[in-house]
Amino acid sequence: MREETRDHYDRLAPVYDQNWAYSPDFLDWMSDCILARLRAKYGDRVVDVGCGTGLYARRLAQHTGSVVCVDPSARMLEQIPDDPRLVAVQASAEDLASGLTLPGDRFDAVLVKEAIHHVTDRVAVIDGLAKLLAPGGRLLIVMLPTSIEYPLFQAAHERFRELQPDPQAIAAAMGDAGLAVELSYEDFPLAFPTERYVAMVSDRYLSLLSMFDDEELAAGVEEIRRRYQGEWVEFRDRFAFVLGIAS
Ligand SMILES: C[S@@+](CC[C@H](N)C(=O)[O-])C[C@H]1O[C@@H](n2cnc3c(N)ncnc32)[C@H](O)[C@@H]1O
Repeated sequence: MREETRDHYDRLAPVYDQNWAYSPDFLDWMSDCILARLRAKYGDRVVDVGCGTGLYARRLAQHTGSVVCVDPSARMLEQIPDDPRLVAVQASAEDLASGLTLPGDRFDAVLVKEAIHHVTDRVAVIDGLAKLLAPGGRLLIVMLPTSIEYPLFQAAHERFRELQPDPQAIAAAMGDAGLAVELSYEDFPLAFPTERYVAMVSDRYLSLLSMFDDEELAAGVEEIRRRYQGEWVEFRDRFAFVLGIAS
């Protein structure tokens, strides 16, 4: 993991759930999107790669019985609830792809939610993750599309567009790894009091924002305040769901 990515998540870990658990409705919606695509059922062997604090692993474990939770950030893993159904492993997606052995052999479901953009050699990692699947197993990569509607400042949108991988390229890599691929998009309407959203941006709630120094961020926050003068900001949070199924 890149040093600044590790620093970002180490710093954010204690407040991560607060920032991302926008609303129970959002978590329920996202969990349903994931569970349906993974066709999760009791007894499935599941690994959540880049699981963070286990926000989604917790919900998956309620359906499957257990989840192996993999993340390179020790601080994020520390936030996972003490629950025997959640087995934490400190490792990166790259470690798994290059043969690190996990508890369990082959998996029925592998989830990578909002972590693939941190992975350096995505083609090799997707190929390695595909090899973890049992016959009929599902690999689901949940990611933002190449542009987002978040009420951010212009420079942040530009940076995002430069850095964010294209879901089509992820789908192509899954196809090359021998999986049958389905790419779909879904969105969820979000609303925040403007001041709360500004506080989240000031706190660099997205890893993208850690690429701006204090001065640039302060200018960005001013720009947001100028652009969004209402009491609330509203936008659609759109996600790509790239599903690969092993034969
Ligand atoms: C935006 S968070 C997503 C966490 C969780 N999946 C969720 O949706 O709440 C990104 C996570 O990816 C992890 N990460 C960063 N680089 C990674 C890598 N190379 N392999 C696997 N995970 C990585 C970070 O430590 C962080 O926990």
